[in-house]
Amino acid sequence: MDDSRIKYAEAFKYIAKATNSSLPLTKVLNSIAKNTTKALRAAGCAIMLLSPQKEHLNIIAAHGLSDLYLRKGIVNARKSLPDILDGKVVTIFDISQDEQTQYPEAAETEKIGSIIGAPLLQKGDIIGEVRVYGKEPKHFSKGDADFLTTVANIIAVTLERNNLYQMLTKAERPEKTSRRKKSTETPKPTPQSLRQSIFGHPSEEEFAKLLDFYRLEWLYEPRSFPLAWENGKVTEMFTPDFYLPDLDLYIELTTLKQSLVTEKNRKVRRLQELHPEINIKLLNKNDYLKLLAKYGYRAAGGAKVEGINRVLLSHTQIQRRVQALAEQISRDYAGRQLVLIGVLKGVICFMSDLMQHISLPLAIDFMAITSYGSGTESAVKITKDLDTDIANLHVLMVEDIVDTGMTLNYILGHLSSFKPATLRVCTLLDKRIRRLADVPLDYIGFEIPDEFVVGYGLDYHGEYRNLPFIGGLEPKLIEEEQLK
Ligand code: IMP
Ligand code: MG
Repeated sequence: MDDSRIKYAEAFKYIAKATNSSLPLTKVLNSIAKNTTKALRAAGCAIMLLSPQKEHLNIIAAHGLSDLYLRKGIVNARKSLPDILDGKVVTIFDISQDEQTQYPEAAETEKIGSIIGAPLLQKGDIIGEVRVYGKEPKHFSKGDADFLTTVANIIAVTLERNNLYQMLTKAERPEKTSRRKKSTETPKPTPQSLRQSIFGHPSEEEFAKLLDFYRLEWLYEPRSFPLAWENGKVTEMFTPDFYLPDLDLYIELTTLKQSLVTEKNRKVRRLQELHPEINIKLLNKNDYLKLLAKYGYRAAGGAKVEGINRVLLSHTQIQRRVQALAEQISRDYAGRQLVLIGVLKGVICFMSDLMQHISLPLAIDFMAITSYGSGTESAVKITKDLDTDIANLHVLMVEDIVDTGMTLNYILGHLSSFKPATLRVCTLLDKRIRRLADVPLDYIGFEIPDEFVVGYGLDYHGEYRNLPFIGGLEPKLIEEEQLK
């Protein structure tokens, strides 16, 4: 056996031992990071999990790296070694000559020359990455890549097993099962026990849960800011608790203990002097409830928006998708006379956002309808017809949601009688499983499960239209309704 094979074998001996020990999960992961570093004669190793929206990386364990390097800034999975997200092992021979690293200066200060990274895969899904940092420029061998791939597999199995254990120990108290759980869009949250160990304080965990509920992306302590130096050495550092990429905001949580508040205030002020471009807020629980309310994430005062049982699509998810749809529409209708037609009232939020992102001259018009009965028995009556003549124009029917398709089917029949040049449909939501009428949909924002949703224009008895996200209604509310 050559020397490196002996190193791999030695590492696996300790990794297997740690994995099969009764140590807490973070200790096991740190031990894996340490033995991986040694086997590859590297400077350090970090194990990172992808955030729910799969955009950022959260460090969950590490070895050999300084806090300043580990928390150098927000690690964007699509910018930093993006090929790992395609399931590949990525090596960088010389960081100073490479464009795939997000923080080359930090690597230089840390005296890191090279990187090898591998994806953590669970049943074919990428859930995170393991990265090893070399001391100098280095060609990692095929053997190194195979070794790291095996380490990545062990980490993934360890996380999975930990999740399973959590589920089994919770089994006496089964959660209410409902068909809601089937949605494919629900992100996999961080394993509970891992969560408890990464957070320094229960209030941080509580805050993270709230952010998860609203599907707001968060990173825990992703960046350390040096605040004071002596003889070129950092003597004071500040690591804010959270970063919320959607709001570009750092958050430091605080309790009501005055001595701590004063000290944290001083650090926040110092940080703002040094980095005026950084947005940071020092918040206690009341403050963060207010902050979330300001962004529409909470009914003022209440714990969660009353009657909403979960958030299906966050404000940011909706905005991104609407922008992408608008770009596609702008390309497809270039050079044509476009008219957007919406049916009141549910479509107002979608129509308003969509049209602002379409980069073509266009006209808009609205119709209003009422419907009677349900399912195949339902009949639709137009209460407000178009103001404009759409003959020979290119009409794009904009819908909030297509459910059975009966409404749309009726409206398309009505609109085609005016002989537009073309007639297409753009819907934000598609509840395909419920379809009765076979209507062609040309642009679809999101396919959603069979669940009654509200928000972003959609209502339940006239309420909830002003929520900036789309949420599921508490099943109890609907059941009560059906019993009436
Ligand atoms: P369809 O005729 O069954 O396709 O129903 C379409 C209309 O029903 C939409 O324009 C909405 O007004 C309403 N609708 C269907 N599903 C939902 C929902 O989940 N939330 C709110 N309104 C809905
Ligand atoms: Mg902290």
